[in-house]
Amino acid sequence: MKTKKIKSVLITGGLGFIGLNLSQFFIQKGIEVFVLDSKNENSGYNEFHLLTLKKKGLTIIEGTIGNIHKHREILKNVDSVVDLAGLIGHLDSMKNPLADIENNTVEHIRFLENIKGFKISKIVYTSTRQVYGKQEKMPVDENATVKPLDFNGINKYSTESYYSIYSKHLNFDVVILRLSNIYGEGMHIRDKRLSFLGWFMNRIITNNPIEIFGDGLNVRDLLYVGDLVNTIYNSLVMDVSGIFNVGSDKTFTLKRIAEILVDLNPKSSIIYVPFPDVLKNIDIGSFIIDNSKAKNLLEHREIVSIEEGLKKTYEYFQKYKGYYL
Ligand SMILES: NC(=O)c1ccc[n+]([C@@H]2O[C@H](COP(=O)([O-])OP(=O)(O)OC[C@H]3O[C@@H](n4cnc5c(N)ncnc54)[C@H](O)[C@@H]3O)[C@@H](O)[C@H]2O)c1
Repeated sequence: MKTKKIKSVLITGGLGFIGLNLSQFFIQKGIEVFVLDSKNENSGYNEFHLLTLKKKGLTIIEGTIGNIHKHREILKNVDSVVDLAGLIGHLDSMKNPLADIENNTVEHIRFLENIKGFKISKIVYTSTRQVYGKQEKMPVDENATVKPLDFNGINKYSTESYYSIYSKHLNFDVVILRLSNIYGEGMHIRDKRLSFLGWFMNRIITNNPIEIFGDGLNVRDLLYVGDLVNTIYNSLVMDVSGIFNVGSDKTFTLKRIAEILVDLNPKSSIIYVPFPDVLKNIDIGSFIIDNSKAKNLLEHREIVSIEEGLKKTYEYFQKYKGYYL
């Protein structure tokens, strides 16, 4: 596979969970990194990420991606972009649809309008497997009909479509990654709004019981963030474009995931509670993702096992929990 050298990259939403890990990975690769982030209080933004990345000496700009025209010097300097900016709460999107469409769609259109005339050759946009909604046929590949169950899914999907059309008009390559459940160091664990796993992690870090809704037999795949950042890097340097599912081939019941966590801290435990009504309508049930396209064309690999990844994540939060709880 043909690869190109990346000199400098703009990471939007770089002070959130994936951005923290991606920025550090790129710095290790000797790539110049510019981070733009609006420090949105309803996101996984964390002040500790800002301090950690500042120490590494990269350029951090506070601002929304729609206002990128205020930072033309950055656009002049970068040849690639990873667009991670956005809000990820599915229930939040139902409670506040306008904030969701603003940060997940409108701001990205403003961004695309503002990069006209600059020499950006590649953009990676992180979408979500939530765009598929509930599917009958598993595993779900990229040809499945998109039918989101919540506003976040709608807005992420419409931004995918804007990216596809703008890429032809503005002549850049775009890779759209539909991510499954990503976990690891720096994920949001303060409350249960952003991911079930972040909340499970909170419970074991604080010696509390993990609550499982229903019987816990729905399955999910989890991908360790260290494996994801490698695939994002490949998406930038390889001569590819298009839409790719990115997750893990291995699925686990929620019950099993909770058991692995409780093994890490036996002071925690598992309790089963009825499924809350508010979540019933947007729950996608069991989901198995087909990653073959990303494995073939992006050399997507899952190196870190769930046991190892959860252990690393647990140890990170034991050390830095003061910044995250
Ligand atoms: N974490 C996952 O499991 C997961 C799964 C599917 C998709 N994704 C996608 O990956 C991306 C990153 O996810 P994450 O877990 O790091 O989220 P995160 O909430 O930790 O980080 C998102 C960052 O974007 C910033 N942001 C929000 N709106 C912005 C705007 N208008 N302008 C500039 N910055 C803005 C926030 O301040 C935050 O720092 C998101 O787009 C999300 O939809 C993540």
